[in-house]
Amino acid sequence: MLVLGVCSLKGGVGKTSVTLGLASAALERGLRTLVVDLDPQGDSTLALATAPAAGDVAGVLETPSADTLAAATSPSAWAEAGLDVLVGSAASARHDARDGDDLDRLRFALAWVHDYDLVLVDCPPSLGGLTRTGLTACDRAVVVTEPGLFSVTAVGRAMRTIDDLRRGPAAQLQPLGVVVNRVRARSVEQAFRLEELRGLYGPLVLTPFVPERAALQQAQGAAQPVHAWPGAGARELAGAFDDLLDRALRAPRT
Ligand SMILES: Nc1ncnc2c1ncn2[C@@H]1O[C@H](COP(=O)(O)OP(=O)(O)O)[C@@H](O)[C@H]1O
Ligand SMILES: [Mg+2]
Repeated sequence: MLVLGVCSLKGGVGKTSVTLGLASAALERGLRTLVVDLDPQGDSTLALATAPAAGDVAGVLETPSADTLAAATSPSAWAEAGLDVLVGSAASARHDARDGDDLDRLRFALAWVHDYDLVLVDCPPSLGGLTRTGLTACDRAVVVTEPGLFSVTAVGRAMRTIDDLRRGPAAQLQPLGVVVNRVRARSVEQAFRLEELRGLYGPLVLTPFVPERAALQQAQGAAQPVHAWPGAGARELAGAFDDLLDRALRAPRT
């Protein structure tokens, strides 16, 4: 089982979109997948058309156990089987203030998870206790960014957080790299930022980039996986997520 975290300091750069795209690619490939919705906004729970559950991720973080985990896990309507969600909740926000010794609550809870090939952790837009708790449960993490000025500086802070965690509670955590999202082919400003990212992070800048395509928002709005959405834009997105999933599954584990 691979546990992959999707994080960024900033909101709106595409963490949830990348999580959903990877879940769609995993479903296509027949991998049994659990999406952990750590964002108090619950976007991935909504977009995955998750059936109502008795519990939620806040309950799991409060009392990590087999029971709270089972109560908070619910199937996504994207598929008949093979894709579940650890349901998000506004109440998880109170865990964002937590830090220090408490960061292994999700990792502890996931010790009861055995039926999945892949766990994707969709993090909130901060590098606070909630994201740190999420990353501490992960084997690998990607940092999502757009190719813009403020986003590029935010990548550095996310990378340093991953580094800190590796030297602390999450020795197993490896930074897989930077996923560059919403890339437009003909933007001069973006091309400049992409060069800047490559200069700073070299091979950690993952390819392919995720293009900006209306199909992504259309599929999300219809609560459908992008692999099931018609059109050239959706195919392009699906291909990018297939390659990124390959990359995540291929990277050597420590
Ligand atoms: N590659 C893309 N092409 C088009 N729209 C995108 C793309 N990536 C993200 N979006 C849109 O941008 C908004 C923010 O993305 P989201 O994944 O929710 O970001 P985050 O989870 O980081 O806050 C959403 O409405 C999403 O549909
Ligand atoms: Mg999100």
